[in-house]
Amino acid sequence: MKYLFTLCLSFALLLSAPAHAEPILIKFSHVVAEDTPKGRGALLFQRLVAERLGGAVKVEVYPDSSLFGDADEMAALQRGEVQMLAPSVSKFEAYTKQLQVFDLPFLFDDLEAVKRFQRREKSRQLLRSMAGQNIYGLAFWNNGMKQLSANRELRTPADAKGLAFRIQPSSVLESQFAALGAEAKRIPFGESLKALQSGVVQGTENVWSNMTAAGFDQAQPFVTETGHGSLNYMLISSSSFWQSIPYATRTELESIVEEVTLQVNKDAEQLNRKGREQLAAAGRTRLVALSQEERNAWRAAMQPLWQQYEAEIGADVLRAAQAVNRR
Ligand code: LMR
Repeated sequence: MKYLFTLCLSFALLLSAPAHAEPILIKFSHVVAEDTPKGRGALLFQRLVAERLGGAVKVEVYPDSSLFGDADEMAALQRGEVQMLAPSVSKFEAYTKQLQVFDLPFLFDDLEAVKRFQRREKSRQLLRSMAGQNIYGLAFWNNGMKQLSANRELRTPADAKGLAFRIQPSSVLESQFAALGAEAKRIPFGESLKALQSGVVQGTENVWSNMTAAGFDQAQPFVTETGHGSLNYMLISSSSFWQSIPYATRTELESIVEEVTLQVNKDAEQLNRKGREQLAAAGRTRLVALSQEERNAWRAAMQPLWQQYEAEIGADVLRAAQAVNRR
């Protein structure tokens, strides 16, 4: 009898315990090169997970739009075909308008102000704002200030008139160029260089590290150092996938995310500094520095957008963002 009882118990345990369960697979897809802050961040996440959760969780990284690109990655995440992404916050317009706050030109005085905002409670709320749509924000990663590039020198806002600029899929960015009398075309990042080379667009905006890594200087002889906006990413998973991970494993993953976030933000500063130097040294692009007065003219041309978008974004979000500036 005792023997039978032990046998039954062992059998029951065998059924309930996944002794050699397959590791949880996280496919992490992104659209930029590996030697960028985001590319490095994805690889660091993969390494730390292998070190601390090896056997339980496996991470595969797909850079350079090699698995999914801007046009289809979010839907793939919601369908469960990929488990992690880090799109720029400019790419969430179809899911929430609140994140457009990050696209408002000249809203944040500098990158430190952006970082302060990302530490505030309001930003924590933004991370969770799409959870009901199966998009679960884990962290903000930032990647520095955006500059304006073109096939001609842009010193005053009027110089941009009549040009077409490649933008990320964001109404705010569209309005930003409309305010300059320019056209804006929504083009996936992976197709940007081709669009610049073929003349579909004559200009764009981006951070130094992306310009260098993507070789924009092959088609953009001028970069104006406007620093008019910032490029930020939201590291996301799907709510259904993230909540399905056992608690202890999920907690460890979240602490790895925190560690990687600090490193990405450090890398961003270093890689953007390096990107600017490389671009200048390569000699194909002339950097156009602005005097304070010239920069103020760009600011004056673009600032009306704050009011234009206040209702969509939400006055509370806008105020919280403005409050982080030291002025
Ligand atoms: C862009 O589309 O310009 C950026 O969002 C690309 C990126 O992910 O850095």
